[in-house]
Amino acid sequence: MAKDGNTGAALFLPDRLTLPELRKAAAHCEGCDLHRNATQTVFGEGPVSARFLIVGEQPGDQEDRRGAPFVGPAGRILDRGLEEAGISRQKAYLTNAVKHFSFTLKGKRRIHQKPTAAEIDACRPWLTAELSLVKPEMIVVLGATAARALLGASFKVSQRRGEVLELGESLAVATIHPSAVLRAPDRDEAYQGFLADLTLARRSCSS
Ligand code: URA
Ligand code: SF4
Repeated sequence: MAKDGNTGAALFLPDRLTLPELRKAAAHCEGCDLHRNATQTVFGEGPVSARFLIVGEQPGDQEDRRGAPFVGPAGRILDRGLEEAGISRQKAYLTNAVKHFSFTLKGKRRIHQKPTAAEIDACRPWLTAELSLVKPEMIVVLGATAARALLGASFKVSQRRGEVLELGESLAVATIHPSAVLRAPDRDEAYQGFLADLTLARRSCSS
């Protein structure tokens, strides 16, 4: 058990590993403190047969309210990138490294807060279980938090984005997070780089 008394997600995993069972169990996860203030668990979404598994950071404000990944502003950038790269969102499995929204309050506004290393570690059992069931051909790693969860603390997205990596039985490509496109001084340039990485991910897959 961690020093703060949290156990991580492992204790909450279901006996039977299927995506519906995982989703049901994750709705009651108390593996770290993030469940206290968030509205709900935002579990991954998509078919178990997906060839592409896309990993973001954590749900944002809108995802927290709606209970689905990538349905806010970052999701719209992701949608555009996937479509232009020729990856079907409907056929892909979309998830996050951390499954509850982490935020601080500024007046009434909920401001996104980066999940801590301990929260990423606590939540990793869900991601590992999703990966073990979907067995994707290609994992698209969006930004530093997803990279930390999957590729380790020393992996630098800025240096190693746009490389085809091996991750277990899957291939992986890391790229910037779509919200970094929104924050970039030159959005168009940032978007083109993001799209190039997604296109590489698609081209590195069979057929
Ligand atoms: N950003 C993420 O990383 N994931 C989401 O689901 C939404 C925004
Ligand atoms: Fe569980 Fe992850 Fe939510 Fe923490 S963030 S309570 S580990 S689902």
